[in-house]
Amino acid sequence: MKKILLSMLLALSPMVAVAAGGGACGTLDKCEPAPVNLKDKASLQNGASLYISYCLGCHSAKYLRYERMAQDLDIDPALVEQYMMFTTDKIGEGMINKVDVKQQASWFGAAPPDLSLETRFRSPDWVYNYLLNFYPDDSRPLGVNNRVFKDVGMPHVLEPLEQELGPDGYAVAVGDLVNFMTYMAEPSRLQRERLGVWVLLFLAFLFIPVYFLNKEFWRDVK
Ligand code: HEC
Repeated sequence: MKKILLSMLLALSPMVAVAAGGGACGTLDKCEPAPVNLKDKASLQNGASLYISYCLGCHSAKYLRYERMAQDLDIDPALVEQYMMFTTDKIGEGMINKVDVKQQASWFGAAPPDLSLETRFRSPDWVYNYLLNFYPDDSRPLGVNNRVFKDVGMPHVLEPLEQELGPDGYAVAVGDLVNFMTYMAEPSRLQRERLGVWVLLFLAFLFIPVYFLNKEFWRDVK
């Protein structure tokens, strides 16, 4: 009996071990945790519209199709077609801008990378802190620098939003954006987590007959 319990616990332990965030954030002493919550549809929807308005012009997200996004985030596909698809007229296509990479590299000193997998490459916390830490620096060509990514080639494209919303509102908006980027890096995670709960419930119920069967088998032997 103890063995059965033990092996069940062992089987569950990787699911319980939640990856502790953190990690290095450039020159910052402390990395603020990104408020990631993949169940918050309103936040994901807001993040999607921010990404499309402010980032997609430079950064493709080629692994995410508009159609998939509409399904996962409960956005009416007609609305997506009308208001969100600037790069294509086919809803089954990935979010790919048509800007020439070489030209971009010559404008900014470095080409803006595809950000489909960015939060897995850097971590959501890194991206969150990066977007919160642009500061004016006259020695740089674009007049801005970044505390997380020193001498970055990217302009502070969210500056108008930061001014409009103030620091707290800006942090909330960036939180939504990073939440969406975290979803984007692994769109099937939402489904998998939902399925995971059912698998665990199934195992828990299966345990009951297995327990009594085990007792039954050993009754005459002992
Ligand atoms: C005007 C073009 C432009 C826009 C718009 C833009 N970026 Fe960038 N971004 C760049 C460039 C260029 C780089 C590469 C900088 C470098 O390597 O020095 C970059 C780099 C980045 C990186 C770091 C990539 C790495 O090396 O890991 C992140 C994260 C990022 N951008 C996020 C965003 C987000 C989120 C938005 C929307 C709010 C956005 N960017 C909008 C041009 C842009």
